[in-house]
Amino acid sequence: MSRNGPYVVQGDDVEVVDADGNAYVLDRASFALCRCGASTTKPFCDGTHSRVGFQAAEAAVPESAE
Ligand code: FES
Repeated sequence: MSRNGPYVVQGDDVEVVDADGNAYVLDRASFALCRCGASTTKPFCDGTHSRVGFQAAEAAVPESAE
């Protein structure tokens, strides 16, 4: 993930499906999922987040050490 950009997904055995369960064709092992909502190629990022000034607020919370 980039700070104010997409979620970056990496892996050889990753599947992305739509609400009906249909899989998107993925032609690479790394791709970016839009989280700003402005992409014209959803669910994938097309770089529009930069033009719209997307500011992400969330961050992962580290698991506490046990
Ligand atoms: S995160 Fe890149 S276009 Fe939405």
